[in-house]
Amino acid sequence: MKPPHRLYIETVGCQMNMLDSEMVVASLRQRGYELAGSPEQADTILFNTCSVREQAENKTYSALGRLKQEKRLHPEKIVGVMGCMAQKDQRLIFQKAPFVDLVVGPGQLQQIPDLIEKARTEGGQHTALSLGRRDGAVKDIKRSHETFDPLRDPTMRPTPFQAFLRIQIGCDKFCTYCIVPMTRGPEQGRPPSQVVGEAKILAEQGCKEITLLGQTVNSYQYRDGQQTTRLADLLAQLHEIDGIERIKFVTNYPKDMTYDLLQAVRDLSKVSPYLHVPLQSGSDQVLKRMKRGYTVDDYRQMMARIDETLGEQAAISSDFIVGFCGETEEEFQASVELVKECRFKNSFIFKYSERPGTRASDNLPDDIPFEVKKRRNNELLAVQNQISEEDNQAFLGRQVEVLVEGPSKKADPAAESNGGPIQLTGRTHCDRIVVFDGNERLVGQTIPIGIYDVTAHTLLGAVVTHESSGGLVSLA
Ligand code: SAH
Ligand code: SF4
Ligand code: F3S
Repeated sequence: MKPPHRLYIETVGCQMNMLDSEMVVASLRQRGYELAGSPEQADTILFNTCSVREQAENKTYSALGRLKQEKRLHPEKIVGVMGCMAQKDQRLIFQKAPFVDLVVGPGQLQQIPDLIEKARTEGGQHTALSLGRRDGAVKDIKRSHETFDPLRDPTMRPTPFQAFLRIQIGCDKFCTYCIVPMTRGPEQGRPPSQVVGEAKILAEQGCKEITLLGQTVNSYQYRDGQQTTRLADLLAQLHEIDGIERIKFVTNYPKDMTYDLLQAVRDLSKVSPYLHVPLQSGSDQVLKRMKRGYTVDDYRQMMARIDETLGEQAAISSDFIVGFCGETEEEFQASVELVKECRFKNSFIFKYSERPGTRASDNLPDDIPFEVKKRRNNELLAVQNQISEEDNQAFLGRQVEVLVEGPSKKADPAAESNGGPIQLTGRTHCDRIVVFDGNERLVGQTIPIGIYDVTAHTLLGAVVTHESSGGLVSLA
């Protein structure tokens, strides 16, 4: 019998890419592939790539550069570049790295097993790409970006009891800085029956937490004749599935955070009161240049709707871009003020990176020096971190329900191997990270943890074994 093919896959980018890698691995496993730990041990090497910032692309091009020698020594190895950078750079990848065999866009991943086979038997360079946003009828463009979601491989997930589930493909918002509408194509909601069917498969595989994915997930809609399904309806359907304990959804678009969705979050106990809603900037002028489609005041009104519906239990997080084209010091300070006003659970802060092919790249100069971007990034992060730490203090002495994910980064491997307690990590219903000591068999369970210390990003706690009227009594 022939030995199995061995696949090495490296993934950068967002959760969409993690999910795509999971499905590509599942499809190759069906053909008998096994996973390898390094390119040297593999006969098939895939890079799942991201184009959202230049740095993400540089990372992939340097990884490819490091592979040159390996491919020279072993020309029979198949090297493939898939994902957003494949769709964006297309044949340019063959120019930059002539030894690459395959370039496959994120909407064409179902072709990967056959293309690998073709490259192996016939040689040559192969591409599978989706249509550009102006390259045909909308119907055809959409089709060319559809993915093959139902194939799942639990072993490829960070943990087998947590999974991503795509409900929406693409994006139609066209923020001026962003490449995603070009790489992932037009926005399309997946049919609710498909989503629910996939969630049932995941629940049967032992999955307890699902995170619904979409670039603007709360804009989700699916029209079938007279009937329109929105995210609130979909959440209600998913809530019925036995075995699923937690449901999250990312990323939200501020304008589409409607009352009915917030009420669904409030009324459906499995749905996390955690909302990632990127603001991007606290300045109306910058938001306008970004073409985000809302004002700071619209965002404030959304925050008020969240507060009114969900109250204290809600945890809101955000993304910011600093140093966007023409951002003055005053405009930047407006972002600082908004972070203070909104008191986000956490914020991801990015330095603006010009993306060829976007409207900002065509029309607005990238005129903020790197040093200024860096300083603004650090300043905003410091303000956010202080708020995160202050707000985490409210958890001191409280008990939270934690879905245990696994050993923490600091877990002592010696304690792990002799069965002793190790440092474990998990998340609360509102997505806060909790670390505590415990036995590894707690992994996958939802358990009460008493919190005795906090940092900006973590709650530190101990397993609660029983409660006494005097407070929490806990054993590690
Ligand atoms: N669909 C999501 C986010 C997709 S990209 C949304 O609309 O919120 C994730 C984050 O990367 C964005 O929220 C934005 O903050 C950041 N980002 C996108 N394009 C960028 C660019 N050209 N430079 C720097 N950051 C960028
Ligand atoms: Fe990009 Fe804007 Fe779409 Fe988000 S909403 S993916 S930032 S274009
Ligand atoms: Fe990157 Fe594509 Fe995701 S550009 S952020 S991998 S959608």
